[in-house]
Amino acid sequence: MTRPRTALVTGANRGIGRAVATELYRRNLRVVVTARDPETALATAADIGPGVCPHVLDVTDPTGVMLLRKELEHVDVLVCNAGVLLDARTDPLTAPLDLVDRTLRVNLIGSWRLAQAFVPSMIRRGWGRVVLISSGTTAEFGGALFAGAPGYSLSKSALNGLTTMLAAQCEGTGVLVNAVNPGRVRTDMMPSGHVTPEQAARFIADVATLPAGGPNGSFLTEKR
Ligand SMILES: NC(=O)c1ccc[n+]([C@@H]2O[C@H](COP(=O)([O-])OP(=O)(O)OC[C@H]3O[C@@H](n4cnc5c(N)ncnc54)[C@H](OP(=O)(O)O)[C@@H]3O)[C@@H](O)[C@H]2O)c1
Repeated sequence: MTRPRTALVTGANRGIGRAVATELYRRNLRVVVTARDPETALATAADIGPGVCPHVLDVTDPTGVMLLRKELEHVDVLVCNAGVLLDARTDPLTAPLDLVDRTLRVNLIGSWRLAQAFVPSMIRRGWGRVVLISSGTTAEFGGALFAGAPGYSLSKSALNGLTTMLAAQCEGTGVLVNAVNPGRVRTDMMPSGHVTPEQAARFIADVATLPAGGPNGSFLTEKR
């Protein structure tokens, strides 16, 4: 079966990322699953289906991102999903700043690095969809910062800011950049979540395959 568009999903070995990769494959995209561990990347790709491409990627590794960009002919859909929640149950006065630093390097800079690597060629090709997986713990777009995981909350707020800046730069190019709040999704990060990864993935896949004229620079939450 011909799969005309290629999607790259970060942190695709488990949780929301794996469900998104599976859903995009189901929607007839060629899917590149990336994971930090090579064996997990291979196993995930094999589980999803024939033709899924496994790649090793730590989003904090600039060389790894550069090599991946060189290896892939092009990427049409980029889902920046890889994320960490390291400072839960702390507060702004006690949060260990090394954890905050790691959080920002994965959640914000990692996504930014992927966007810098793949968005310019989307613009040149005149089509692209970028989805940045945000959170309900953010201040922008009418939400409220969550002081109980301050580094995480700030990282996702900054990611929303990055979304608006990238979207403005992509305006009129055929590339749409949006942030998604997936809700509380039952994964290793949020075992008490009430949304299944598959439910969240359907909405994220909708945003990753928006038609021309769809929203750009928006913070999108599924109405449930
Ligand atoms: N679950 C929720 O309720 C919820 C709510 C709002 C937003 N989110 C966001 O949704 C995204 C996915 O979360 P999840 O719930 O699916 O969490 P998860 O099950 O903990 O999965 C996190 C994924 O990110 C990967 N990752 C972590 N650090 C990485 C790095 N440096 N480079 C590449 N991959 C890395 C993990 O890979 P390893 O297996 O190698 O660690 C894993 O694949 C995150 O951005 C999270 O902040 C989740």
